[in-house]
Amino acid sequence: MPATITSVAHYVPPDIYDNAFFESYLDTSNEWIVTRTGISERRILKQGATSDLIIPAAKECIEKRGIEPDEIDTIIVATVTPDYLFPNTASIVQHKLGIKNVWGFDLSAACSGFIFALVTAAGLVESGISKKLLLCGADKMSAITDYSDRTQAILFGDAGGCVLIEKSKDPNLGILDHILQVDGVGLPYLHMLGGGSANPANHETVEKKYHYLYQDGQTVFKAAVVGMADFSLEIMRRNNLKSEDVDWLVPHQANLRIISATGNRMGLPPEKVMVNIDKYGNTTAATIPMCLSEWHQAGKLKKGHNLILASFGAGYTVGAVYMKWYMND
Ligand code: COA
Repeated sequence: MPATITSVAHYVPPDIYDNAFFESYLDTSNEWIVTRTGISERRILKQGATSDLIIPAAKECIEKRGIEPDEIDTIIVATVTPDYLFPNTASIVQHKLGIKNVWGFDLSAACSGFIFALVTAAGLVESGISKKLLLCGADKMSAITDYSDRTQAILFGDAGGCVLIEKSKDPNLGILDHILQVDGVGLPYLHMLGGGSANPANHETVEKKYHYLYQDGQTVFKAAVVGMADFSLEIMRRNNLKSEDVDWLVPHQANLRIISATGNRMGLPPEKVMVNIDKYGNTTAATIPMCLSEWHQAGKLKKGHNLILASFGAGYTVGAVYMKWYMND
């Protein structure tokens, strides 16, 4: 029996930073940001850590499913901004939620984090290792963004999204297929060099800005357009899905132009492509669960809808998932 998503919720911090904020101190403009990225505003968590972006979403997710927190047996946190290098954020989430007898781990795949974790979670549930798995995709990107660099500052935001993964009650509905890939060729173009074992923190790593994210925008842009579209088309092909069979493309939200190019290559009209980058910017592991949560809340996701989830991120990491929407109801 496949696994499926039985509940979904998200959290964004209340503080909004619009493009005028960046115009006030950087050599940039609202027009440049909107036309080049599609972003109008993003949310920033002023105090707290990534686990604080997860807890409100996790509580809502569990409550909506109508179960006791203790029924959760596994927690996976997809993030590149863990509260600490260790202990893992899954342990912190467990403790803050007060769930007993649960295990879990963090998963690092940058902007593909949610999709990689979703496939991992589905495997654990299908095999019977996990029965009720809380999957969290969250990033406090403001913790690793250089706000003096106009090429990076405007892109990112903070948010968290959670889903509950359980066995589907219908063999034809749920998470049905995936294609995932890592390719270390991406290291020079998208990385954070400091703080790990290669460049432990010291004065020099701080001076060299090694504790901030670095991105060669154009190179990553080109790779992302090809990667997201190729993987999405391949998963359509091997599941015999034509453009008209796809109800929703759920793309990672890094740049509206990458999203549109992917949708176009799949032959989808814009109304079948989920877009909320205008409100939140790139929230890394949170973008896809946030889209699912907002579209579910709006009543736009129907039982049996064909969804293609697609992502591209640091590594490089690339992923596409095919699911037929079903919440076991
Ligand atoms: N405001 C005004 N000008 C800016 C700017 C800003 N915020 N940021 C960059 N520019 C300038 C550049 O300095 C450059 O100027 P120059 O021509 O004088 O050198 C010019 O705009 C074009 O820069 P470029 O980097 O070619 O822009 P772009 O169209 O590629 O857009 C990104 C930049 C980052 C928005 C885009 O490349 C992108 O989205 N990349 C991929 C992101 C992604 O998918 N990441 C994966 C997961 S995180």
